[in-house]
Amino acid sequence: MILVKDGFIVLDNKLVKKDILIKDDKIYKIEDEINEKDAEVLDAKGLLVMPGGVDVHVHFREPGFTYKENIKSGSSAAAKGGFTDVMTMPNLNPCPNDMESWEFEQKLIVENGTINIYPYMTISKDELGEELSDFTRLHNYCYAASDDGHGVNNLVLLEEACKLALKYNMVIASHAETKEGRQLPEGEYDAVRREIEIAKRIGCRYHFCHLSTKESFDAVRKAKAEGYKNITCEAAPHHLVLNSSMIKDANWKMNPPLRTEEDRLETVRAMVDGTVDVIATDHAPHSMEEKSKPYSECPNGIIGIETSLPIIYTNFVKTGVISLERFLDLMVYKPINVFSLPKHGMYVGSNASLTALDIEHEHTYLGREILSLSQNCPYIGEKYYGFPKFTICNGKIVYHK
Ligand code: DOR
Repeated sequence: MILVKDGFIVLDNKLVKKDILIKDDKIYKIEDEINEKDAEVLDAKGLLVMPGGVDVHVHFREPGFTYKENIKSGSSAAAKGGFTDVMTMPNLNPCPNDMESWEFEQKLIVENGTINIYPYMTISKDELGEELSDFTRLHNYCYAASDDGHGVNNLVLLEEACKLALKYNMVIASHAETKEGRQLPEGEYDAVRREIEIAKRIGCRYHFCHLSTKESFDAVRKAKAEGYKNITCEAAPHHLVLNSSMIKDANWKMNPPLRTEEDRLETVRAMVDGTVDVIATDHAPHSMEEKSKPYSECPNGIIGIETSLPIIYTNFVKTGVISLERFLDLMVYKPINVFSLPKHGMYVGSNASLTALDIEHEHTYLGREILSLSQNCPYIGEKYYGFPKFTICNGKIVYHK
């Protein structure tokens, strides 16, 4: 048994002091005061105790690229960042295209994962946009399909994938970009507009990853206003707090790139008004060697799973831009809901997955504390509130500072 003592939980948008007793893998009691002599006590005085974060967009790089990250290090970094559930992108080697490659990845997850990991399958074999992946079999195991890092520009194939997603009630997660790529804003929003039409016509669940332009959000906002509830989108912390004028080096390089201040403000507006369903990091580790190449040659991506909750808490909750409840929605409940993942929350009987954020003290994020295998990160040296003190996943302590 674990007793989480004297923490604050969110009730009706307010912080309320409660004790939480965990028995096996479940929340057993939430009461004003619990005393249980057989329990291991975790002191949560002054901490915000929230359901474990759910990040629907991470790269754990295994199998195939374990010099950047692996399932074990990615899990540790996620737990340190307060995340108990993640969805891992399929740009791997081998890519999860079919039963054989999915089983290979799944075995590694079972052996090495310390949090809940839900892998994406690819939309097309090896993300080449030529041949559909095996939806017929993999729908039994995957919640969603994505060709990470590539827009699907074979629209005939995309429509077929949407029909299969509808049939199997899966989500298509789109890295929307035209053939020209999404470095220019129109490369993203032209693809978003075109794919919204496909999603409307087919009626499947369609999720846009890390949108970054005003026009993209406008298009999703309009589709939602028209009643297309199955069309959803995410924003990444970096597009909410950084813009292109802040780029210093390759640790500020990702795809889609940082955009103008106007686009950043539109991303914030979309988060506030509900156009953005979920915040997801696109945690994308790359080695020092790769990121040291000249800017134009080095790979896209930054790590983000250890800093996502503190960045959003500090910039938007502490400042009153979003409420505590909206924060939990963006970080926990909507991700679960959009992808129909196994549920957890702050209620008796829930799976005991939670994290405790230190919202009273500022902490300077240092390179030496990073648990990811890679350090490609623009936030090193920055100060934030809300770093986790401990994280519990399915009743087990998976991180303790
Ligand atoms: O910045 C990015 N990194 N964007 C992507 O779409 C792919 C990702 C990666 O795999 O590194």
